Formats: sequence, structure tokens, C-alpha cells
Amino acid sequence: MTDSHTGPFIAAIDQGTTSSRCIVFDRDGRIVAVDQKEHEQILPKPGWVEHDAAEIWRNVQEVVAGAMVKAGARRDDILAIGITNQRETTMLWDKHTGQPVHNAIVWQDTRTDQLCKQLGGDVGQDRWRRETGLPLAAYFAGPKIAWLLDNVPGLREKAEAGDLLFGTMDSWVIWNLTGGVDGGVHVTDVTNASRTLLMNLEDLSWNEEIAAEMGVPLQVLPEIRSSSETYGTVTGGTLGQLLGGVPVASALGDQQAALFGQTCYSVGEAKSTYGTGTFMLMNTGEKLIHSESGLLTTVGYRIGDQDPVYALEGSIAVTGSLVQWMRDQMGLIKTAAEIETLAASVEDNGGAYFVPAFSGLFAPYWRSDARGVIAGLTRYVTKAHIARAVLEATAWQTREITDAMTKDSGVELSALKVDGGMTSNNLLMQFLADVLDAPVVRPMVAETTCLGAAYAAGLAVGFWDTTDDLRANWRRAAEWTPDMDPDVRDREYKNWLKAVERTMGWLE
Ligand code: G3P
Repeated sequence: MTDSHTGPFIAAIDQGTTSSRCIVFDRDGRIVAVDQKEHEQILPKPGWVEHDAAEIWRNVQEVVAGAMVKAGARRDDILAIGITNQRETTMLWDKHTGQPVHNAIVWQDTRTDQLCKQLGGDVGQDRWRRETGLPLAAYFAGPKIAWLLDNVPGLREKAEAGDLLFGTMDSWVIWNLTGGVDGGVHVTDVTNASRTLLMNLEDLSWNEEIAAEMGVPLQVLPEIRSSSETYGTVTGGTLGQLLGGVPVASALGDQQAALFGQTCYSVGEAKSTYGTGTFMLMNTGEKLIHSESGLLTTVGYRIGDQDPVYALEGSIAVTGSLVQWMRDQMGLIKTAAEIETLAASVEDNGGAYFVPAFSGLFAPYWRSDARGVIAGLTRYVTKAHIARAVLEATAWQTREITDAMTKDSGVELSALKVDGGMTSNNLLMQFLADVLDAPVVRPMVAETTCLGAAYAAGLAVGFWDTTDDLRANWRRAAEWTPDMDPDVRDREYKNWLKAVERTMGWLE
């Protein structure tokens, strides 16, 4: 450590699908230092995706230490730590040894398809939509817990004996940060809990009936807390030496954190984050809107003991991960950034449309029997056209979500706030503005997920006083305005929808 520290700062940990990061922020919401580490994607069978949670915890400790060194920060410079995380990814660990009892089942994993169908019974996938805001789909955490308990020998007995703890990654990281086997706190926040299919949206408590029907013993579940409050302090282990006593003061699922970081605090404000998948959330205030158009109703955030703020969400499973697939599985590009150069080398998609339904189709369809297709192929099509179709897929999927949002909320999109890795792709951002027929705007700090977690932690410890202070930090960095012939837009949208139809019914 150097003496050049200029705190106070807030540190945010983002435990994401492909990597874990820590970002240190100053009072203006500016980035002081970043450290990041990828973890292994374990793909045991088609449709299955797992993570090693022990590897993830090691990486989290490394990136926190790394970011501290890069920031030249000492323990006293860090006023609080905030947590944000990939949502729904489900794990169980032994509370006596602190060891995971199985790999975590990742949100993209489709192994609970059949289980979800059975649970839906005669009512189908909307059986618990009213209570939880969610359709019964393999995406969510509850059925993943049930799968682990029923398929890994010995786990159900251990769970019933009270020896196992369930968590999404927020719970796992907080439990470890606050002492692990030596008194770690077992909590989750309302946003993460709202993705389990087990929480009542109205009163933010576990729904005992659903848990019983699903076969999830209540004793494995964490306590549900707000998104912005001190859960405990950093204790023990490597990080105990470095940051002992620092409050752990926020937790939000990454998409809700991005909503918070984009300062969407008023009803009708929306953001869309372009990462592994893409998730658009619109603030609906204290009102719970039940979607008629295939969107999810979810908790946006809850600050301390204030009323919760709800959101409508359009979730898209595969966007950035399609670019990774082109790089890693197909070898058509060497780096993710190359997709833009390749796609820009041709005028259009050459008639090809790529619907990446690798994990089924999420919003607005919720079809777990869907699988990916490339439609419209002729011998004319080159890899450059496919690259273009890959980028266009992200934009068309967003268009389907904004159409659903407009239907449900009655509010026409006036502009879309975007963030995430793919927003550095200019060709994509322009195409997005074109197909939405609305301006697309990106803020100066594109790391809105970590920023949102930092903001929520900073509010909890009084580093910032109100959300107005946070709004003042939002600055526009880039804007793309629509510039597409409406006839072309309509024709292309129709073709896209035709290709979407071809994805369905593969598992009948
Ligand atoms: O619901 C899944 C989402 O939270 C994952 O986000 O950014 O890790 O792909 P990301």
C-alpha cells in the first residue's frame, strides 16, 4: 500500500456469470480502481451450466485485495462494501464446514424443465405468477434447489437436519465475508429473493406453501433483508486482515443494481444492460404491475425500511454470450471486439437471422422447449453476414421486450438508458436505436451494476444522503439516434419473428 490514498471510498463486488470484479468508487461515483477475474464455465451436458462456488469465493477475495492495492487504499479509506451478483444461480453449502456440497447450478441451466412442467400441473407455468411475479421456468432458483436435494445423494437428509444453507451468490459472498463458519450471517436481499419463485411479492416473505409444494425445507433459506442496510462486518480470513470491521451494507441482483446505478428512481424510467444476457427493467414504483405480455414482476430495490420499489423486467438469456460462442465454440472471431469489424464489412445480414434460444426463450415467450436457429441461409451468406445477424439478434430481442413494456405500462419508450459490455459496439447501438425507433443513451460510468451496489451501500452508511445526490452524478457519454427507413424496419422485424417461430417445439 502507498501513502497516496485519497479516500473515503465505497467498494463494490460484482459476482457475475463469467467473472467476479471489485470496483472502488469515490464520492462523485467515479471509478478509482478495478480488479477482475474470470471463473470456469462448467458444461457437463447440453443445456447444463455450473460454477464452482469455492473458486468464485477465492476469486472474490483476490479481486477485492487487487482493487484495494490498485486504489492505493487502506482499510480506513473503505467506508462500506456493497454486493451485486448474477441472479438465480443456486448453491447449497454445509454450514459446519463452509464447503459447497455441489457445483452451483447457473441461471442459464435448463435441467429443471421437466420439474417445472410437473409443478405447473393443470394450471401450467402461471401457477404461482400472482404470488411471485414469475412464470414457472427453469431460469429461477427454487426448482434448482429441489433438483439438488432430489438428485444428489444425502442432501435432502442433510437439509432436513438443518446442516445445509441455500444461497444465491449474494448470500454465499456475504456469509463468507462476515465470518463463514465462525458466525457468518445467512441473508439475502429482496431483489435476489424475488427470483426464487419462493417469495411473496406483496409482503416480501417466504411463501411456505410454495416451498412445501416444491420440496424446499424452510430451514435452508436465508433471512430476507432490504437491499441497503448493514448486514454485518468483514470478519476473518484474508479479507478480515485487509478490511476487518468494514460494514457489508448492500446486496442487489445485478440487474436491479444496474437500475439503481442508472438512477432510474422515478416511475417509468428504464434501463437495459447488455452482458451475457440482456435485462431491461422499468421502475413501476410502489405499484406491483402484473404483466399480461410475458414480462416478469420483480422487486427493483428496497432502501432500509422504506417501502419496496417494484419493476417490470424483460429478460433475454443470450446476447453477449452469443458473441462468446462465436469466438470460443465456432472460432469465427478471435476476440469479442472483432465481431463489430466483421459485421461492418457487409451492408446487411444477407438474408440470415440468428435466434440464439440456447437456454430456451425467455421473455416474452418463456418457452423452455425452444432451441437456437439460423434461418434464411443461402449460399450467398458469409461469416460476415452471420456476424451481423448475431448483433441484430440482440437488438430484435430488445425490440420484443420494449413492445411488451409498452403494452403493459401504456408508456411509449422515449429513450433507452443502456450499459454493459456490448454498449461499446457502435454498430449494435446504432442498429438498436434504429429498430426501437428511439434514442439510445449511455452514461459516463458504464459500470452501472457495481455503481448501483456502491450507491446502495453508501446510502446505508451515510456516504450519500439521498437518491438526489446520486442522480447528480449521472452524465451522458454517448447517444445514438434512429436513422432507418420504417419500411425496412417493418420488413426486417417480420423476418425476425418468422425465425423466432422456427425455434419452438424442439423438446416435444
Ligand atoms: O438473471 C441473470 C443475470 O442476473 C445475469 O447477469 O450480467 O451476470 O450475465 P450477468
